[in-house]
Amino acid sequence: MKLTETLRRQLRVTVDYTNMTDKYLGDKGISKKALDAHKKLARAAHAYVAQNRGKDELFMGWTELPYNQAEIVNDIIATAKLVRRKFEHFVVLGIGGSALGPSMAFTALCHLHYNDLPKSKRRGPKFFVEDNVDPVRMKELLDVIDVTKTCFNVISKSGATSETMAQYLIISDLLTKAGVNIKENVIFTTDAARGNLVKISDELGGVKRYILPDGVGGRFSELSPVGLLPAAVLGIDIKALLKGAAYMDKLCKSADFRRNPALMCATLQYIAMQDGKNIGVLMPYSDNLRYVSDWYAQLWAESLGKNVTLDGQPCHVGQTPVKALGVTDQHSQVQLYTEGPYDKVVTFLSVGSYKEKTPIPHGCESIPDVSFLGGHTMEELIQAENKATAYALTKAGRLNYTINLPAVNEFTLGQLLYLFELQTAYAGAMFNIDTYNQPGVEAGKKATFALLGKPGYDLQKKDLNAAQPDPEYIV
Ligand code: PA5
Repeated sequence: MKLTETLRRQLRVTVDYTNMTDKYLGDKGISKKALDAHKKLARAAHAYVAQNRGKDELFMGWTELPYNQAEIVNDIIATAKLVRRKFEHFVVLGIGGSALGPSMAFTALCHLHYNDLPKSKRRGPKFFVEDNVDPVRMKELLDVIDVTKTCFNVISKSGATSETMAQYLIISDLLTKAGVNIKENVIFTTDAARGNLVKISDELGGVKRYILPDGVGGRFSELSPVGLLPAAVLGIDIKALLKGAAYMDKLCKSADFRRNPALMCATLQYIAMQDGKNIGVLMPYSDNLRYVSDWYAQLWAESLGKNVTLDGQPCHVGQTPVKALGVTDQHSQVQLYTEGPYDKVVTFLSVGSYKEKTPIPHGCESIPDVSFLGGHTMEELIQAENKATAYALTKAGRLNYTINLPAVNEFTLGQLLYLFELQTAYAGAMFNIDTYNQPGVEAGKKATFALLGKPGYDLQKKDLNAAQPDPEYIV
């Protein structure tokens, strides 16, 4: 993608927050005065992020990913080329931050029926992200791939996540039984020192591996090799993705929230949360962007859902992310958003120009309910419905704002991801919490270890087994 300065400006992602304010929402909206009362807090959050960016010990290494990976990116591009040449299938084994990004980029930037396209029309092997341990799913994946012709990208920072490692054990066993040297068909993406995958790779005699930098947590890792390798295998322009992220970083340099889109989003969401808006709906008007909601849900929920401040004070903060898709969910959830409790902020992802327009032919001329559609395009229809839904919500006094993507491509997706990451970092700083830990996730992981008999978890196993369901409460 050749990104001239003019093209960058044309592809700039913007935030329209008119419908968060009192301009059309009246007393249901945020007034200038209320917004300005948060100027100081926003500046402090901005300063915190600016001062600590890149610090591995604070897990803020993600801020530098658009700038410090030139060598890795070239290596990834070369590896991806080999993978495309050699394999028919590419399977990501990972979960959470190790899977949501690859799925999201795949759906956003590839054909929506990519795996069904003939080989000549695909830019790479068929692509799967296996982020569950549903036994049926595993078995049925194996029905449609030939493991000997598949490259497995095992992504796990710790190399100790039960789901991913169970998948790895199954796959490595199958490869061995099929007479394949495991290391020929796997690529590891993991932590440099602590990850078990490093040990496994050494035992196998050197598996191709990529390092997830120390200061980059799972949910902030899409712009690291976690997301870049799968994307490159799919023929996605990963350099443009990183350039998009760097561009958004530049757009968010100001400490003034009126000149910093991520800081404005964080401040608006913070004000809304303080006012009991505990639900944040993300509603892309684009099938390509539908899994951005899944990726964002993890980022926002796992980062902000905390019970203690950095000063050790108890708190219970966070906002429950809800995934919706325009226009599909207009015919289900939007009724609730418009008339239900005043507990939500709706964020629309709107697209200025879709890669297809798809004209609607004239027809059914004797039925005005139908014929008015003829002569328009599906692009016009989806955009009109997006505008109409924002209008209806605003009329009903519901907080909503729109992130505008001029088009869906690598450069705009990179901007969007970085915007959300920065927004999350700012919001976490406003709440004065540890944005980057996830004790709640770790607790579930440890309980699983205990249940399945991992050494060192005997006490917890006893405790878990003692907590049997009480027949009195079973109906
Ligand atoms: O954001 C996170 O830290 C988690 O969602 C992890 O990505 C997830 O639990 C997988 O962990 P790992 O990469 O260690 O396998």
